[in-house]
Amino acid sequence: MRRVLVRVDFNVPLTDGQVADDFRIQAALPTVRALLERKVGITLISHLGRPAGRPHGAFSLQPLAEVVSRHLGQPVTFVPGVPGDSTYRQAVSADPGAVLLAENLRFDPGEETNDPDFAIRLAFGHDGFVQDAFGTLHRAHASTVAITRLLPACAGPLVAAEVRALDLLLSDPRRPFGLAVGGAKMKDKLPLLRRLLPEVNTVFLGGALANTFLAASGLAVGSSLYEPAELDSAAALLESWPEVIHLPDTVVVEAAGQVDEVAVTEVSADARIMDVGERTLQAWRPIVLGLGRLFWNGPMGLYERPPFDHGTATLARTIGEMTGMSVVGGGDSLAAIRRLGLEGAVSHLSTGGGASLTYLEGEILPGLQALEER
Ligand code: 3PG
Repeated sequence: MRRVLVRVDFNVPLTDGQVADDFRIQAALPTVRALLERKVGITLISHLGRPAGRPHGAFSLQPLAEVVSRHLGQPVTFVPGVPGDSTYRQAVSADPGAVLLAENLRFDPGEETNDPDFAIRLAFGHDGFVQDAFGTLHRAHASTVAITRLLPACAGPLVAAEVRALDLLLSDPRRPFGLAVGGAKMKDKLPLLRRLLPEVNTVFLGGALANTFLAASGLAVGSSLYEPAELDSAAALLESWPEVIHLPDTVVVEAAGQVDEVAVTEVSADARIMDVGERTLQAWRPIVLGLGRLFWNGPMGLYERPPFDHGTATLARTIGEMTGMSVVGGGDSLAAIRRLGLEGAVSHLSTGGGASLTYLEGEILPGLQALEER
């Protein structure tokens, strides 16, 4: 084999054009190294952000080439333009052994429409395809589905490790089984809650998501962020699983520039809930430590604005102390674990946000199905 096309998920956060967190890049490196040992040329392809099918400087993958090169200890040539264009064709033909990083796949509208013609352009000059972008497998795109019909295709080690970890989380007999779910949008988390509530023993809710549940249980949430349209769904879950769902008893509120911890029964009309309260975190702690298995996705408060990162960071520390299995997915939860240096203290850090949620919901991941069909 001469040149392999490798789909990675390099959808990483950038700050001022620089990579702010390279976790997903590091997670892809073992695959790249394994291919390098086999002396094949490698073309790395990925999306970054949502540039809506056209080139956009802020979403260029160019800054990542240097980061990947530094990690690998060898040159990585960035291929500008749109993947599959004439520059791309020249680059893949020029040096059979080179490691190339193509520009953002989503600069071509064909990526998100799963366009077979775009997949043909991507496949040009390649003899095989390795799918290692676990975080993108819930999308039916050209680089996850159409491409698998054009080249000999297989799953990479990262995809295999992610699927193994999530399968183990679901099948391991250890109990109690817990979920910690935060973040803002019910739409993102409701399917997971509906699917796993009958299976788990405990669910801790935080973030704006918890506000919707607090409001659904009849409590005043002041001027907090919550979703009135989801009150009925939240109320139905509370009614069905009153013993399983743990809402915060205390919350950190901001009102007139003042930050206070109050009982959830005492949120005034001008107060905004920003985080889970310390008393709640202390009450949750022994329950978390006693869990046999836990999946965590989503911040407990407004994580990006200290001091409202406290709930998320405290939960991360507690999870780091667990002796049971812990699986963490999703940008902010992952960032909290990494910021505290707790990577080694959790059983599995998933590179997938939406993909791991979709997998745990029991839904088919189109990118995985396409590989299985091969
Ligand atoms: C992610 O960050 O969850 C994946 O890279 C998928 O990105 P998307 O939600 O923009 O498809």
